[in-house]
Amino acid sequence: MTTYHSEPHDFTDKRAGYERLATQLQGLLAGETDPIANAANTVALLFDVLPEVSWAGFYFLRDGELIVGPFQGKPACVRIALGRGVCGTAAAKRETIIVRDVNAFPGHIACDAASQSEVVVPLIAAERLVGVLDLDSAELARFDEVDAHGLERLAKLFVRASIF
Ligand code: SME
Repeated sequence: MTTYHSEPHDFTDKRAGYERLATQLQGLLAGETDPIANAANTVALLFDVLPEVSWAGFYFLRDGELIVGPFQGKPACVRIALGRGVCGTAAAKRETIIVRDVNAFPGHIACDAASQSEVVVPLIAAERLVGVLDLDSAELARFDEVDAHGLERLAKLFVRASIF
């Protein structure tokens, strides 16, 4: 792992912002294969750098359900069944889901009443679903396609670096 220096990130150009974040994440994960350690540092980086994010964390698949892993933000729901909420739906479909308004998503699980929008990226290792990466915001429509693609790339870096 390289020493981490928190620096102000300019996300005016989101693509460029995610590009820099990917380079930084690669440095953070270099030489470490433990998934919990890597998940912890990944969400610490995302929470430190991404603007307007109220919660960033992992849920891992254990015995057919999602269980909360390392996260930054307020305490969260611990177990989520596949197919339930945004996380369980993204996991079951193995698709990234962007929710512009959580109140308009049927079955959304409100861990934090302040959350207004959300994005969930599934984690696939060797074609096996291992969990999801979940980000919340207190802003409506905080996440768009650029965020989704940027986060998918970061999620892949995390999966590739880790041995599950
Ligand atoms: N809102 C999520 C639950 C997890 S929390 O946001 C941390 C969902 O509907 O799956």
